[in-house]
Amino acid sequence: MSYETILTDIRGTSDLKTGVITLNRPKAMNALNDQLMDELGCALMGFERDDTIGCIILTGSEKAFAAGADISAMKDYDFQKVYGSNYISRNWETIRSVRKPVIAVVQGVALGGGCELAMMCDMIFAADNAKFGQPEIKIGIIPGAGGTQRLPRAIGKSKAMDMVLTARMMDATEAERAGLVSRVVPLDKLMDEALGAALVICGYGQLSVMAAKESVNRAFESGLSDGVMFERRIFHSLFATADQKEGMDAFLQKRAPNFVNG
Ligand code: CAA
Repeated sequence: MSYETILTDIRGTSDLKTGVITLNRPKAMNALNDQLMDELGCALMGFERDDTIGCIILTGSEKAFAAGADISAMKDYDFQKVYGSNYISRNWETIRSVRKPVIAVVQGVALGGGCELAMMCDMIFAADNAKFGQPEIKIGIIPGAGGTQRLPRAIGKSKAMDMVLTARMMDATEAERAGLVSRVVPLDKLMDEALGAALVICGYGQLSVMAAKESVNRAFESGLSDGVMFERRIFHSLFATADQKEGMDAFLQKRAPNFVNG
């Protein structure tokens, strides 16, 4: 499959590999338009279906993960167009149906829809030059790809309000301190760090990886009792797998486990 607005690559030498998707509209700082979101969805689902892929990395350029929704495309949209075509809902959230872990690797700016796209991933690794923001208010709109919901869940109400209402940017250090980002890494080491984390994940039993992701995500969709019950049932179900037997046997026999993903 050939794409015009993204690049795809497969990295790694172990049984399970990492699919890397790079947003690639350099002249527009990777601004997100419909074509890019369609291509991104297609690439994500391709990696999701590929049994040789255990983890996915989504990244951009050194200057920009993504500077937000494409303002030149949106400028002439009217209500009929955005409501009628289900703008954003139609093709921006494919990533939410991916069951394999997705790591956002953010260098440079992640603004507006770019920050929202990073937040749709499972974790964010940031370069020390990264900047996050929800500046939509400056152009007469508000975040429209989940920013008003995911940002307060990630960093709390006060900081989220600050960012959404003043449009100020947060640097990588503040983003990590606030809980938006899981690791901050020097720019030139960032991709190696992310590939290393992906390799670690690829080495685990993939049913438990999928179950872990599903259970953590449930924390954002349910109350505590329901979430804990969901986790408990998934935890119970993993005792039906060969990888649970193998993982525990290997630990007790002081050897490395040989997971079969079953
Ligand atoms: N849409 C379209 N084009 C964009 C863009 C965007 N979101 N962001 C940057 N570009 C383009 C610029 O128009 C410019 O193009 P030209 O060279 O053809 O003029 C090119 O990228 C480089 O941008 P700048 O010259 O502005 O570069 P800079 O380094 O001075 O500034 C920036 C970089 C701070 C990212 C600045 O471009 C900027 O503020 N961009 C807009 C950010 C924004 O408002 N994002 C939110 C969009 S709305 C949204 O995302 C809605 C939603 O929730 C879904």
